[in-house]
Amino acid sequence: RRTHKPEVSGSIPLPATKSVKIKYMKKNFLNLGRQPLANSFLPSNSKKTLSREFFYNLNISFNTSSYLVSVTKPVNPKLQYTDKYAHRASESQTARNAFAKTAKKLNKKFSPNIIMEIGSNDGVFIKNFSRNKVIAVEPCKNLANLTKNKYKTFPDFWNKKLANKIFLKSKKADIIFSANTISHIPNLKETFDAIEYSLSRNGVLVIEDPSLHSVIKNTSYDQFYDEHVYVFSALSISNILRSSRLRLFDAEKIETHGGSMRYYVCRDAAKYKQTKKLNLILKGEKKAKLNKLSTFISFAKKVKKSKKELNKIFKVLKNKKKMIISYGATYKSSTIFNYCKIGKKLIDYVTDTTLNKQGKFTPGQHIPIVSPEIGMNNKVDFAFLGAWNFKKEILKKEKKFIRNGGKFITHVPFPKIISK
Ligand code: TMP
Repeated sequence: RRTHKPEVSGSIPLPATKSVKIKYMKKNFLNLGRQPLANSFLPSNSKKTLSREFFYNLNISFNTSSYLVSVTKPVNPKLQYTDKYAHRASESQTARNAFAKTAKKLNKKFSPNIIMEIGSNDGVFIKNFSRNKVIAVEPCKNLANLTKNKYKTFPDFWNKKLANKIFLKSKKADIIFSANTISHIPNLKETFDAIEYSLSRNGVLVIEDPSLHSVIKNTSYDQFYDEHVYVFSALSISNILRSSRLRLFDAEKIETHGGSMRYYVCRDAAKYKQTKKLNLILKGEKKAKLNKLSTFISFAKKVKKSKKELNKIFKVLKNKKKMIISYGATYKSSTIFNYCKIGKKLIDYVTDTTLNKQGKFTPGQHIPIVSPEIGMNNKVDFAFLGAWNFKKEILKKEKKFIRNGGKFITHVPFPKIISK
């Protein structure tokens, strides 16, 4: 039986955020160079289109006070989350299964009456709930259009204004879910203040985002790109929540995106106790020194080495006249190709299952994208795993390619040709 009734919010709207002076103690530790927007695929490779491409400098910094790792100068979100946003969360079977499993788990654990998702993409998570319980927030209009007929969908950025619009006169959310989205929002203070306002008394915010610990372990520097303004650790999340009267009470490691973390957050006065599992994770992160600048300085050295070794593999194979393609037009591969300067001379094309990426060109390096049906043919000798986080699914799917002598290349945890 439910032990609390979802609250109807009072008539007090959220005030605008006052400009608070935050003590910035950001130290740059990694420069990934001039980068394009990783999800901005070009419709053509004409001179005119290329001349308009947007670039920025991707520097990564560590805040020695909050332990937060972030893009030093984030890009304006209005340039990123447009009505042409390409990424579809439903594209992989692994992702579809993971979201269905998570929905089932959250239903069982919290029996929510109202579930809101921030960054609902193509509806891959919300479709697991009955439509009268769901509120979807998605600023990319092309994606919001995919869910608006079935689910209450707000085609807006998450902020206090939207929280007021949704919750001023209606029941607050028992679950706020956000996968791979909170890390994309530059203004965390406003984001969490608006969440605190929108949660019911014992409501739970569930965040999934790539884990800094995994990035450090795998030298997966490709987790850094324009949209990942932050790569969180449990240590940094628990620090930054405090100023919004929220607290982290549980966390668990998940496999999504090559190593993510699911964080459970509640209001300060909610009934949940901090779990042993979270204590162990925090302890593990301290042991890995995710609270020390020196960790990130040595990580940056490993990144440089990884770049060198990956280029060497490509060079050796090209000297042997091997045909190399890339598998999955991912944001991750955008960071790698632009940082390592791996372009059309080394990679013939990229395959991707997403219809609206096919026929386009990759950001920055302008490599053509084709469907796997066309691209995975017997002329291909090597395929770089752009979607390395779906390695299991891909190796299973591409048995024929492997049987015919095709091989995959990966850069995690270090650059190598996968030999099996
Ligand atoms: P993501 O890592 O951002 O979810 O993106 C994965 C991309 O890889 C997405 O564009 C779909 C593509 N992909 C394939 O082309 N083939 C596959 O088998 C899988 C799993 C993904």
